Amino acid sequence: MNVTIVGSQLGDEGKGGIVDLFGEDADVVVRYQGGDNAGHTVVHGDEEYKLRLVPSGVVRGTTGVLGNGCVVNLETLFEEIDRLCERGLRPDVRVSGRAHVVLPYHRVLDRAEEAAKNDEDLRVGTTGNGIGPAYEDKAGRRGIRVAELSRPELLRSRLEYVVPKKRRLAEEIYGVDTGDAFDVDALFETLRAFGDRLADEGMVVNAGSFLAERERESDAILFEGAQGAHIDVDHGNYPFVTSSNPTAGGAIVGTGVSPRMVSDGEIVGVVKAYHSRVGSGPMPTEMVDETASELREKVGGFGTVTGRARRIGWLDLPTLRYAVRVNGVTGIAINHVDALAGLDELRICEAYELDGERLIEPPSTTAAWEQCAPEYQTFDPWDDRDWTKVVVEGYDALPENARAYVEYVSDALDTPLYAVGVGPDRDETVVRRNPFEPAG
Ligand code: GDP
Ligand code: IMO
Ligand code: MG
Repeated sequence: MNVTIVGSQLGDEGKGGIVDLFGEDADVVVRYQGGDNAGHTVVHGDEEYKLRLVPSGVVRGTTGVLGNGCVVNLETLFEEIDRLCERGLRPDVRVSGRAHVVLPYHRVLDRAEEAAKNDEDLRVGTTGNGIGPAYEDKAGRRGIRVAELSRPELLRSRLEYVVPKKRRLAEEIYGVDTGDAFDVDALFETLRAFGDRLADEGMVVNAGSFLAERERESDAILFEGAQGAHIDVDHGNYPFVTSSNPTAGGAIVGTGVSPRMVSDGEIVGVVKAYHSRVGSGPMPTEMVDETASELREKVGGFGTVTGRARRIGWLDLPTLRYAVRVNGVTGIAINHVDALAGLDELRICEAYELDGERLIEPPSTTAAWEQCAPEYQTFDPWDDRDWTKVVVEGYDALPENARAYVEYVSDALDTPLYAVGVGPDRDETVVRRNPFEPAG
């Protein structure tokens, strides 16, 4: 059995924690898209890991793979691996030779383009990690792939072709200072050193055949999505999106496995019990009152990667219905149920109203989405309590009103509830069904 875990909203739903939890039964954990724009948190007792590239399963000693759909900043990757080693782990990370490399000039250009957008509404609010420019170069057939780092002549000729163009773009269009980030010799040296380390540590694989082989050996594979459905470049609220496909289809093209390896398995949609967003874009349920500040205070609502304050909103069912459909979600995990404790009243947006019409899914243009007015259902609140005790006692120990809230969401989405998160720790999730175990 294989399991794919995806974000159902706008990222930061708590995917890392759910991957860590169900990853106990996985033999390989695979990232299939995105790069170090992701920040996945795994908490185990006093230990907290914030992982940007290393797949979350690695914390448990499971083999981690970065598929061809990822864009890899090797500086971040090696730093992350070194930090995990310092903490006593022995990360086994493999990288697809087809994955593209995020280069220093991608980061400079990402930030320069954002800064040049003087109309606030056009600014995406990227993480500044060069993700968009790296995917642009991939699609533009001028990117550098991981396998090329161990072929010096090819690498140098690729750099000699692309770097002068990037330098001109930076200097003439954006008027920014270039430097080593745009210097062929400096880039060549850095990339060769990364290539040597990848080769010395035997990290480069053909991800598709590596995973097919592991499946033949009856290993269980977990595909770990980064970001979320609504910042998918195709299915999200374009242009306020990331540049990859976090939705489940991305797990197929982003690793090179047979579509059956994903579609015959379970697809778990991770849902945050409220709505949050780091960056620009439509958010009809955004709160502008004290409840937002209260929630942000309680949940430390700041981006894992950028530290920016998250925008906070009420849970939005139209966005979830869409995510469940686009991903083929077979079960949901609702996190942060503890975070909602103690509020005076809770709301869930059931549908939108747009030009006198009732919509149960978001409209396909972002401009129309901005105009949608939420139609709310209200829910009775629940109090804070000893959530660890709740987990030990099981699902029925959740406050009755919390059960009513999560069951309402599961019914509205016509999708079973697999887990309820009541805290960041590995031991703070109530599991109703483990997707790796046979149903029934
Ligand atoms: P990801 O990007 O989807 O993996 O999520 P992040 O790690 O960026 O953000 C989720 C944050 O919420 C992290 O700080 C988690 O430790 C924390 N978290 C995850 N699940 C829960 C939960 O059920 N309750 C609370 N209070 N925090 C949670
Ligand atoms: P995880 O995997 C939340 C957002 C950025 C910005 C947009 C584009 O931790 O859930 P990018 O740097 O990707 O070009 O930025 O996407 N974004 C995320 N928001 N969680 C993430 O990852 C995100 N990765 C990118 O804030 O709005
Ligand atoms: Mg995150």
